[in-house]
Amino acid sequence: MIDGKLGVAIHGAGDVAHAHARSWKKNPQVQIVSISSRTRASAERLAQNVGLDCEIRDDYDQVLADPRVDIVNLSGPNDVHARQGIAAAQAGKHVLIEKPMALSMDENRALRDAVARAGVKSVVSFVLRWNPLFEIIKRQLAAGTIGEILHAEVDYWHGIGPGRRQFEWFRRRDAAGSAMLLAGCHAVDALRWFVADEVVELSAMGNNMKGHYEYDANVVVAMRFQGGAIAKASVLLDAVMPYTFNIDLAGTQGTIRENRLWAPASFPGQTGWAVVPTILPDSGDVHHHPFDAQINHFVECILAGRESHCNVADAFHTHELCLAIDESLRQGGQRVRLPL
Ligand SMILES: NC(=O)c1ccc[n+]([C@@H]2O[C@H](COP(=O)([O-])OP(=O)(O)OC[C@H]3O[C@@H](n4cnc5c(N)ncnc54)[C@H](OP(=O)(O)O)[C@@H]3O)[C@@H](O)[C@H]2O)c1
Repeated sequence: MIDGKLGVAIHGAGDVAHAHARSWKKNPQVQIVSISSRTRASAERLAQNVGLDCEIRDDYDQVLADPRVDIVNLSGPNDVHARQGIAAAQAGKHVLIEKPMALSMDENRALRDAVARAGVKSVVSFVLRWNPLFEIIKRQLAAGTIGEILHAEVDYWHGIGPGRRQFEWFRRRDAAGSAMLLAGCHAVDALRWFVADEVVELSAMGNNMKGHYEYDANVVVAMRFQGGAIAKASVLLDAVMPYTFNIDLAGTQGTIRENRLWAPASFPGQTGWAVVPTILPDSGDVHHHPFDAQINHFVECILAGRESHCNVADAFHTHELCLAIDESLRQGGQRVRLPL
């Protein structure tokens, strides 16, 4: 704590950390006390760009040893999240972890268990859960507007190939994991969030026609949820088009297609799609993502001693699903049953 506020340390000072830092800075109940990265220069650049006067470091052990640090914000590349998250939990720090939080089931289980054992609070950055359209859809589902979901589709199509600064590590299996872990996890998490159930079986196919990545850049998966709903998710890293996040939810009483609603039982005499003008999940720009809302939610959870709906224990299942999809790809599309 510092001056009665929760102390925040940002570790990993690249693109997304800039958006995180701006959101933390707006919350009156926290203060950023430390910025660190693999290199000091990146940490300094972030502090300067965002206008922060705090400790600048390149040593994670020092961050964890700092008693003013209550929350660690992990925003390095994918392959360091689980290890750094486990260390943060063991040091008694609350933790915000960027997705993906783990690249294997061993990491996934070890992180889940370390956070549970330490009793610290956590949130994983499936930040679209705080997008206004997601919130509207969740409310409509809770109100029963479209009944029970019988089929759901969510797609993440975003050409993030060569030309992007991060491509050097995005393309590598050891650093990024896979297309599902790097990006498709947003689509898979959205399916779990909307259907509010867990997948019990799936089969996936992929290709790497442009050959830019060390793994299949484009993946489609068919799934069945425990309660019977069927679903499709896809991730296209080779897409040549503006960032697109499709959401289609067909229910027993109606249908939701992005911000369009068809629900004749709720809207008698409906003759066309009811359209809700709102902020859509239609940009890959990290400054468009609702990190303000995610971070405010996390601070409220910590202060109230409450768990986030998007904590490590919940995100464990999204990662398990992504890893099951990767397992099906490795087996040439074989059916994989969950839990793994
Ligand atoms: N939730 C979302 O919607 C969303 C959006 C974008 C990104 N992300 C996630 O955020 C993470 C970062 O992505 P990015 O686009 O910001 O990547 P980035 O710009 O490459 O930033 C990553 C930073 O991590 C630093 N780093 C490298 N190794 C490290 C280590 N061992 N410990 C600490 N820091 C280390 C690098 O710092 P140096 O410069 O010091 O070497 C680099 O500046 C990724 O996991 C990505 O999947 C999530």
